[in-house]
Amino acid sequence: MLKDRSIAVLGAGHMGGALIGGLVRGKLVSPKDITATRRNPEALEELRRKWDIHTASDSRRAVKGADIVILAVKPQGAGATLDEIAPACRKDQLFISVMAGIQTSFINARLKKPCPVVRAMPNTPVLVDEGATAIAAGAHAGESDLKTAETIFKAVGRVEVLPENLLDAVTGLSGSGPVYIYMVIEALTDGGVKMGIPRAVAARLAAQTVYGAAKLVLETGKHPAILKDEVTTPGGTAIAAVHELESKGLRTVLIDAVVTATKRSKELSDLFGK
Ligand SMILES: NC(=O)c1ccc[n+]([C@@H]2O[C@H](COP(=O)([O-])OP(=O)(O)OC[C@H]3O[C@@H](n4cnc5c(N)ncnc54)[C@H](OP(=O)(O)O)[C@@H]3O)[C@@H](O)[C@H]2O)c1
Repeated sequence: MLKDRSIAVLGAGHMGGALIGGLVRGKLVSPKDITATRRNPEALEELRRKWDIHTASDSRRAVKGADIVILAVKPQGAGATLDEIAPACRKDQLFISVMAGIQTSFINARLKKPCPVVRAMPNTPVLVDEGATAIAAGAHAGESDLKTAETIFKAVGRVEVLPENLLDAVTGLSGSGPVYIYMVIEALTDGGVKMGIPRAVAARLAAQTVYGAAKLVLETGKHPAILKDEVTTPGGTAIAAVHELESKGLRTVLIDAVVTATKRSKELSDLFGK
């Protein structure tokens, strides 16, 4: 689908670099059709050697030659980068932004053209092709633009399409979510260590438990409550732990975490990207 389309990745840091990796490994485009930009020349040289792609320090020139432009600089740098590339952009180019909190209307206003813009909220597991990404169409983006963005993010994980007004909630759930799960893995590991398991073994058991449970939810399509009920033997160990987790408010804490992170995402969006 992306064959013969050239892609410029502006701000090829962690997220931009992960997307380049997905595009190249998934053979969605030829490396020769990708141009990555950032300011650090050594980092650019490393990207060029690693993926055999083109690199440039001049974002405006990179945009001129691209069919698809992926915007992956930090949200604080969004305004300056968009102002820089505005003279070079065309209405027939698709802009895909991963910049947290930056609204598509802000991008169109700064580009000064009704270009199609798709906004995406990925998360760091894109680095291991297990990302959870939500994408939303801006006012000038159509079905085929969403399909193109979906194809790119499917190379690095799962993709959901949502209206743009839900992307702050996505930031609170899956965007920030890996952090909550790292804390869960760390705490489970400590529990294992407290009960005498060597730390390295406990950490592997904890991480694989989270990974395996998530895989069961996704692959069976069963409601998590059913999967829970299937393994809570009457009078057994799991139900004893369920009682403990419920009495300490595990669910409420996690719901509150998503609500608080969503509110913070809205605040940051008001600061940088409206
Ligand atoms: N990491 C995540 O989990 C995550 C999740 C969802 C969304 N995002 C979004 O992804 C974007 C990038 O985040 P990140 O974690 O990948 O940050 P990052 O590693 O710092 O990447 C940003 C890159 O932009 C480059 N850059 C800065 N100014 C530039 C300019 N004027 N022209 C060209 N390149 C420039 C920087 O490289 P130089 O210093 O060499 O220029 C840097 O490598 C952010 O907007 C963030 O909101 C990240």
